[in-house]
Amino acid sequence: MLRKILLVEDEESLRQIFEVWIERLGGYELDTAANGREGLELLNQNDYDVVFSDLRMPGGITGIDVLKHVRSLTTLTQVVILTAHGSVENAIEAMKLGAYDYVQKPFQLNELEAILEKCIEKHLLLSENVRLRNTLQSQFDFDSLIGRSPAMNVVFDRLKSVAKSNATVLVLGENGTGKELVTRALHFNSDRRKGNFVAINCGAIAESLWETEFFGHVKGAYTGAERAKPGFFEQADGGTLFLDEIGEMPLHMQVKLLRVLQERKVRPLGAEKDREVDVRIIAATNKRLEEEVKAERFREDLFYRLNVFPIEMPPLRERKEDIPLLAQHFLEHFRKEHHRNVQMIKQETMELLLDYPYPGNIRELKNIMEQSVLLEGSEVLSPASLPSIVAKRQTRHKALQNASLCLPEEGLEAYLDEVERKLLALALEEANDVKKEAARLLKVSYRSFRHRLKKFDEWSGNTEH
Ligand SMILES: Nc1ncnc2c1ncn2[C@@H]1O[C@H](COP(=O)(O)OP(=O)(O)OP(=O)(O)O)[C@@H](O)[C@H]1O
Ligand SMILES: [Mg+2]
Repeated sequence: MLRKILLVEDEESLRQIFEVWIERLGGYELDTAANGREGLELLNQNDYDVVFSDLRMPGGITGIDVLKHVRSLTTLTQVVILTAHGSVENAIEAMKLGAYDYVQKPFQLNELEAILEKCIEKHLLLSENVRLRNTLQSQFDFDSLIGRSPAMNVVFDRLKSVAKSNATVLVLGENGTGKELVTRALHFNSDRRKGNFVAINCGAIAESLWETEFFGHVKGAYTGAERAKPGFFEQADGGTLFLDEIGEMPLHMQVKLLRVLQERKVRPLGAEKDREVDVRIIAATNKRLEEEVKAERFREDLFYRLNVFPIEMPPLRERKEDIPLLAQHFLEHFRKEHHRNVQMIKQETMELLLDYPYPGNIRELKNIMEQSVLLEGSEVLSPASLPSIVAKRQTRHKALQNASLCLPEEGLEAYLDEVERKLLALALEEANDVKKEAARLLKVSYRSFRHRLKKFDEWSGNTEH
């Protein structure tokens, strides 16, 4: 994709120099305007990555006006002001109004080239951020957190009381309980929502990269470091840094993290000074951190730094009341995504869903609903469309549910014997008294079946066939 550049400049020779220069660089498309008015017109018609503008031009519209116009249109376009000697004060005013940089004439082209590259980089970063923020913001606010169970209400209350503060939050819970979703919701409900949300999976960073990833490096910090790179902390400056799977952080990095949390300063590799960072930390883990501390895999001091405001995500099996709501929500979601007709969940299907224990929590329910929506051809989700793991459990359970159990007066052994006797009789009846068939129906060996029959008077003398 060609990057679009606009030059607003009254001096014709300079416009020509620009044209040759941009052509030589390659990868850019240049528009030129000979005065402010033309500049504003072009800005209204096109999206530019970078605008270079002279400060003083005939016709009364100045570089400052061009800059203000750009800012009224977008925050993404980067503006560089070109100034003649002696008007530096105006250039500084331009910086205050949000220009990326200013260059004094006469300038060297390589000086300009460096600035152009940085502008493009900034533009890229900003547009990526805007894109992510837009998708995320619509996806994540407290409304996107489904649940009305008492266990979820506790979570909501805690979220609300901590969202607007800068307090460090530790989100705990099994896999798939919504730790990440809650963290995003916290960010987008905080005063930092305009800042970046930087999510790091601490379990997925190569050990050798930890330092540069977290603290960044300056240009030339090591061979191959052609550009300065901000670390996670600087990327999250003014926003939120989400340290996911914090339990996976190696001990030597825990020491360094602790230092930053205490001092709120980082020093990029190769930098001479520390840089202050204003970052809100949210950490999450599915590990029991106290146990990790006991086993000396997690530093106790770091644990206390992070455990300022813990939020415990309840497993789904402890808030079964939320299953219908979640199931319906995911049904809607996947119905739209996969263009299916299915609208409702049949009572029986819901009973099966309610009965399943969900070791993978909400993520598992979500996957189950996606599979089922794909399998269901009609408007009503039937049990046959559920994955067998959900449907099977129920068949095992059904017999017991129908038995409506209570404590047996005659004691457990006698009671179980009676249940066994009834089931044997039932199987024999089904199998027209063919014992091999009856054994098959009960999924026991013929030997075992005969052995069981012998316990009961009615069959004790007759165990053949
Ligand atoms: N309350 C909820 N309402 C709607 N969707 C939810 C809810 N909680 C979790 N989800 C969805 O369930 C899935 C798992 O959630 P998430 O990734 O936040 O879990 P996690 O606890 O971070 O899991 P892991 O420990 O495996 O990383 C996501 O797709 C998320 O959107
Ligand atoms: Mg997660």
